[in-house]
Amino acid sequence: MIGAHQWCLNGVEIPFLDARVHPHYGVFSPVRGEYIDLVAHAPLRRSGRTAFDLGTGTGVLAAVLAHRGVDRITATDISPRALDCARDNVRQLGLAARIEVTGPCLFPEGRADLIVCNPPWIPARPTSALEHGVYDPDSTMLHGFLNGLAAHLRPGGEGWLILSDLAEHLGLRPRHQLLTLIETAGLRVVGKIDTGPRHPRATDTGDVLHTARAAEVTSLWRLTST
Ligand SMILES: C[S@@+](CC[C@H](N)C(=O)[O-])C[C@H]1O[C@@H](n2cnc3c(N)ncnc32)[C@H](O)[C@@H]1O
Repeated sequence: MIGAHQWCLNGVEIPFLDARVHPHYGVFSPVRGEYIDLVAHAPLRRSGRTAFDLGTGTGVLAAVLAHRGVDRITATDISPRALDCARDNVRQLGLAARIEVTGPCLFPEGRADLIVCNPPWIPARPTSALEHGVYDPDSTMLHGFLNGLAAHLRPGGEGWLILSDLAEHLGLRPRHQLLTLIETAGLRVVGKIDTGPRHPRATDTGDVLHTARAAEVTSLWRLTST
């Protein structure tokens, strides 16, 4: 309880925002900067854009998109705690006029030029509220995002899926399964930007998952409707 309160109070430094984001108890904390950098630097297609940030957590990726000049962003989450947290962060960052936080849901109404989704990376059942940001039972959110993407993209729009391959290294979701999901959802991969782990556990040889963690690659998959 004390630890969670301190995380919320002190927040997490997000260098790209030159600000701190404050995770509430039970909300995924953006402590790993590498996936945020992917969203901060991936090529954006057009000006005058709208975006959705699905599963927004603290709202960090919505804020990154706003800092990149996206005009209007709608952020969703299934967790009421995350929705409250994202609203607080968006307000504190002075972005409430451009970011609307809505839910609980995965997709909001309508379509957008860019749809970003960072689902939990491991297909397994969470055993506590704290684990809902890490485990995606039966890859439900991943399937929901991929299957709903084409129907929510504006013409010429792009989906950005943020996913690490840790599940592949652990034998939980082979790469061909992800590629089949993408194809059967009527999507095409137009680019993939990869980054390696920078967090201390990746170099901790005493960690039982060391081999998988050291080999982990986090990717931003750029998807379009076929
Ligand atoms: C890995 S966290 C990412 C949070 C944030 N976007 C970030 O990048 O820091 C995944 C988020 O998805 C949310 N989530 C899980 N299943 C969902 C679903 N079916 N629909 C909407 N959000 C979901 C979780 O509550 C969590 O906030």
